[in-house]
Amino acid sequence: MCCISTLSQTLGIHAVRLDLVRMEDQAYGHESMQPAWNESMDEMFRPEIVDPVVDFLAELAGGGRVLELGIGTGRIALPLAARGVEVHGIDLSEEAIARLRAKPGGEAVPVTIGDFATTQVDGSFSLVYLVFNTIMNLTTQAEQVACFRTVAAQLGTGGCFVIEVMIPDLRRLPPGETIKPFHFSEERWGIDEYDVANQGLRSHHVTFGDGRIEYSSGPFRYVWPSELDLMAELAGLRLRERWDGWTRGPFTSESRQHVSVWEKSARSEGG
Ligand SMILES: C[S@@+](CC[C@H](N)C(=O)[O-])C[C@H]1O[C@@H](n2cnc3c(N)ncnc32)[C@H](O)[C@@H]1O
Repeated sequence: MCCISTLSQTLGIHAVRLDLVRMEDQAYGHESMQPAWNESMDEMFRPEIVDPVVDFLAELAGGGRVLELGIGTGRIALPLAARGVEVHGIDLSEEAIARLRAKPGGEAVPVTIGDFATTQVDGSFSLVYLVFNTIMNLTTQAEQVACFRTVAAQLGTGGCFVIEVMIPDLRRLPPGETIKPFHFSEERWGIDEYDVANQGLRSHHVTFGDGRIEYSSGPFRYVWPSELDLMAELAGLRLRERWDGWTRGPFTSESRQHVSVWEKSARSEGG
């Protein structure tokens, strides 16, 4: 924490004493701009956001076991488990899992602490899913490819891998620029910094409130739908569906995100 007089002048903030808190890189989710255990992004927990995700995943699970990569505090896993689905999780963050455990039903969800690019859980799954841009937390292509291979090894025949992730915003990045604001309000600023040569993205978050400013940033690797399809193919999975979102709107040139489903068929298992 440090005095913020210079920054407050820069920001044009007057007559308010603010402390600046700089948070170190953590396992952030893009757009959330918050560590996994910080639930200040209340809107992501609203039923109108969560319910379509849970409907989609419960239907796809078809009564089988499911695995969430980067389960966090259980935003999706807990309501899915409440529908009677057997949900397992993987996460790197002990703190996020402590928060999951403190919630109703949280003790009953088996969680493995580890890196979902390489960590396998016992038994096979009918569905593995990775929501809220969390594939981008793997910051190299090699890690993202490894993730697909690890998932494929844990899927039973006919099992599916689902990813929800943004479309990189390069169409909105003027030539020569690297900075793209994605959120601007009195409470929060969000700015993406693109490193196009390396397919990298650093998200910067500034939040205002309770007499202080918090700044945090986290590294990501953005990834294109076609590149994900190739990773899937390398892992023996085939694209089954791609939608604009959880309510199955058509995926088009204007889509800002996609929900994609790859399947492990008997044919793809045979190579
Ligand atoms: C944006 S949060 C999403 C949490 C939850 N899936 C949700 O939708 O609310 C990303 C989560 O992934 C975890 N995570 C990030 N990279 C990871 C990795 N390589 N292995 C395991 N967990 C990871 C973080 O600790 C965090 O809990």
